[in-house]
This record gives sequence, C-alpha cells and structure tokens, in this order.
Amino acid sequence: MDIGQYEKEIKNASSLEKLNDLEIKFLGRNGLINDFLKKIKDIPNEEKKEYGQKVNQLKKDVLRLIESRRKELSGKKSDKFFDETLPGKQYPKGSLHIVSFAVEEITKIFEKIGFIRVSYPEVDWEYGAFESLNMPSGHPARDDVETSFIDAPANLKLGKMVLTPHTSNGQNREMKRVKTPPIRMINISKCYRPNWDATHTPMFHQFEGMCIDKNISIIHLKGTLDYFAEKYFGKGTKTRLRPHHFQFTEPSFEVDVTCTVCRGTAKVNGNKCKVCKSGWLELGGTGMVHPNVLKEGGIDPNKYSGWAFGFGIERVIMMKYGLDDIRNYYSGDIRFLEQF
Ligand code: DAH
Repeated sequence: MDIGQYEKEIKNASSLEKLNDLEIKFLGRNGLINDFLKKIKDIPNEEKKEYGQKVNQLKKDVLRLIESRRKELSGKKSDKFFDETLPGKQYPKGSLHIVSFAVEEITKIFEKIGFIRVSYPEVDWEYGAFESLNMPSGHPARDDVETSFIDAPANLKLGKMVLTPHTSNGQNREMKRVKTPPIRMINISKCYRPNWDATHTPMFHQFEGMCIDKNISIIHLKGTLDYFAEKYFGKGTKTRLRPHHFQFTEPSFEVDVTCTVCRGTAKVNGNKCKVCKSGWLELGGTGMVHPNVLKEGGIDPNKYSGWAFGFGIERVIMMKYGLDDIRNYYSGDIRFLEQF
C-alpha cells in the first residue's frame, strides 16, 4: 500500500485519456484499491480497523494526486490547430406561433388605450357562458352556440360545467371583479366548439372587449373599432356596423372591415374581388351591453352603460394575411409556421 508506486504512474501520465485510464485502474469498482477493501474479510479482527483506515487514506491520497495531475494536463495547450476566426455554428431560430404573436399584438393595441388584459377559466359553469348573458336555461339562443359539456356533477345554482364556447363568459366575472366602473377589459382566451373545417377548429381563440362607464355610447364603440382596424389591418381600413341579434347586447351588430385584398373596392384588376365579393369582410359580433347583463354583474343600468365585442383571433389572422385554411395553424407543419 505504498503511495510511491501510484504517484510515479500518475505523474507519468502524459495525457488526460491516460490519466482517466489510471483512475479506473486504481479507483474503479474493480480497481486496485477496491481489491484491498475486498480483502478485509481475511484480516484478523483486531487489525481490521487499522487496515481499513490505511486503505481509506490511500484512496484519498491517490484521488488528490489524480486531481492535481488532471489540472496540470488540462492547462496544457492542445497541439491541434484551432482557428478562432472561424464563424460560429448557426442554429435555426425559433419564433412565436402565429396565434401567440397575434395575441401579443392585439393585447398591445388595446393596452395603449387603457384596456386591461384579463384571463378567465376555460372551463366555466353554464351560468357564466349563458345565464349571466341574458340566456336563461331553456332559452333557444343557447342552441346558436354549440357547446361541449363536461361530464361532472352540476352545480345547483350555476348549472353544468362547459368548455367555454366564447369569451363572453368573462363579462360577468369582470363586472364582479371591478365592481364599480369604469371597466375597460380585453379578455383573450381559448374557446371550444365542435366544428372542423377550413374556417373552424374545435379549439380556437377569441378576444372580448368590454367598456363600461357613465355615458358610454355607440360612438365610443365605433371609434374603438376603427382604431383597432387601422392598427391591426393597416392604415385606411374602415369598419361598418350591420344590425344583428345577440341576447346579451341591445342594440346588437355585426362588424365588417374593408377587405384587406381589394381595400374595400370589391375589384381587383377590374374583376370582382374573390376574397370578399363586396368590399367587406365580417369581423364578429358587438353591441351595447344589455341592461339585464349589467344588472346580473351588479352594475346599475340606470347609472352606467357600455359596449362589448367578441372577435376570433384565428379569423383576424386569416383576414390580415389572406389565409384560406386555419387548420394549418395547428397542423404543426413547420413550413407553414415559418412564414410568419
Ligand atoms: N359571443 C359571441 C360569439 O361568440 C360574440 C359576441 C357578440 C361577443 C356580441 C360580444 C358581443 O361581446 O357584444 O359569437
């Protein structure tokens, strides 16, 4: 157990590889030092303790010698030529998914004019998705929105659990959170409806704006929509309101924006624009928040008024870039996603 013989070999190791081999030879599971330990059973009992201590000391010394030789060898310059002027390796860069990017863009546009981004549960009660929006149970308007129900016990007051079919469930929650207007909400979330075609995926995203304060009118709504349309689709984009019906707004409208391809002229090189046919593209629904919806949120409709809208994220992306199949967004095909 003389350290001298180990020391000599370690000092003579001429490379890191050779030193590694020595480490295994001396300290490995089947190495020389472990052999000593294995032999402990043949040592007379009264000498066992001293023998064990000696082996352990040897092990420590060898390890120390190996580490110090390793330091010496690592410090040595390699003989191999290394050209430090060569450019580094270029790795492909990732980027935000097209939908995440739009969510960020839209958030910024609304935050600039004082809206606060909120998030509410994607699994909510029927109360949030319907009742609180002036659609009592059994109301036929509920059928307009195809809904997936969760297989879970219903709540006596709040009804069954649903995958939120729209972001409008955030309206009641936001009114109850803020309590006293002003409210300026932008609620962006996943929504679920059982459809699958070129313009629908069963999971999609909506952004829901809501503004409530004293003396809020359609004028503020139109101004906000025009602002959003110009910022998101580009300068010169206009909006128009068409009368419509929603249970939770009165009056209600559908919003159109001037077609991003023909810029509202309905003509491309003298021919009818194939994308819009009329110069306008439908953006989504909006209207003045129904007094019943305000009341349900704890807000006095005699004191306050407001408006709300709900638009699809996948849809606005489609309109902005002239895409024709939103299933591509979720296909995982990198060739499609890389373009954005
Ligand atoms: N929730 C409606 C839908 O998903 C969209 C909508 C229409 C939202 C009118 C609103 C609104 O806030 O006022 O089809």
